[in-house]
Amino acid sequence: MEEERLITNQELPEDALLETNFSLRPQYLREYIGQEKIKHNLSIYIQAALEREEALDHVLLFGPPGLGKTTLAMVIANELGVGIQTTSGPAIERPGDLLALLNELKAGDILFIDEIHRMPRVVEEVLYSAMEDFYVDIIIGQGQTSQPIHFELPPFTLIGATTRAGMLSQPLRDRFGIISNLEYYTHDELQLIVSRTSDIFDTEINEQASLEIARRSRGTPRIANRILRRVRDVAQVSGEGIITRSLADEALKMMDIDHEGLDQTDRQILRTMIEMYQGGPVGLNTIAVNISEDVTTVEDMYEPFLLQKGFLKRTLRGRMVTPAAYEHLGYPLPNVDGKDA
Ligand code: ADE
Repeated sequence: MEEERLITNQELPEDALLETNFSLRPQYLREYIGQEKIKHNLSIYIQAALEREEALDHVLLFGPPGLGKTTLAMVIANELGVGIQTTSGPAIERPGDLLALLNELKAGDILFIDEIHRMPRVVEEVLYSAMEDFYVDIIIGQGQTSQPIHFELPPFTLIGATTRAGMLSQPLRDRFGIISNLEYYTHDELQLIVSRTSDIFDTEINEQASLEIARRSRGTPRIANRILRRVRDVAQVSGEGIITRSLADEALKMMDIDHEGLDQTDRQILRTMIEMYQGGPVGLNTIAVNISEDVTTVEDMYEPFLLQKGFLKRTLRGRMVTPAAYEHLGYPLPNVDGKDA
């Protein structure tokens, strides 16, 4: 069996279980920590839609995995007091699958499509008229017996989530009235999230420990909560009643997360670039192949984090390692002549 991985772009069963059993997911905007601008804007659009008794305009949420896009969609549904159907782009294989989902919606309800960029093209085309004018035309049957059928839909709100807005086709993007870019959380925000989760777990944690977990969670609540679960295991087995900084450090060491929050794969990416490609430029595919990692995972999770940390930069010719990365990993700085390292 594969070892449990801390950094994934998927929700793990453990995340979902925790979120349902302990109502870890915030239910309302006022409980949702961070993303202040998005919350402010949404609160106004939601109030306006409620006052007009109309469906909220379609919403596109984009940003790296684990920042709370699904949670935010559920919060929007609660704030509006409407139902929500959730699915994902790859799960909608044919136009009929989409129609089955749309058929469940009542006026004002939400259809949430995660990974909306992975929807098949034939489905996407059916979605256009559903979003714009609340109808779909579908061909039923094949060959001689095929016939078009017209379905009217109630007004609804589509919430789409994707890691990068650039992956959506222009016609689909154009049909979203509200586009929100979720950003990495600050250490203060993550610290609040860690404290909140500890409360829900009924586990005591001190300020230094929650801050340390926050600092090493790569700006991502899902990772902060995963680390917290492991720290809590260490605390429990060691018989300590309260999570302290040294317990947190011990668990982080077990997980191979360094002081900058980099995990083994982050370090492997940088080391490979330094040792095999003199720091770059290297293409993303080459990096992914060298470390046996999926290219989309590298692009969605590792690269944005390393860019944000200033350990990597993008150039027209590919990715390059920065002097800060050489220093962090303990390599001597390369000669600058002839290269722009
Ligand atoms: N748990 C995970 N993400 C959260 C957020 N943004 N606010 C509150 N609790 C969370």
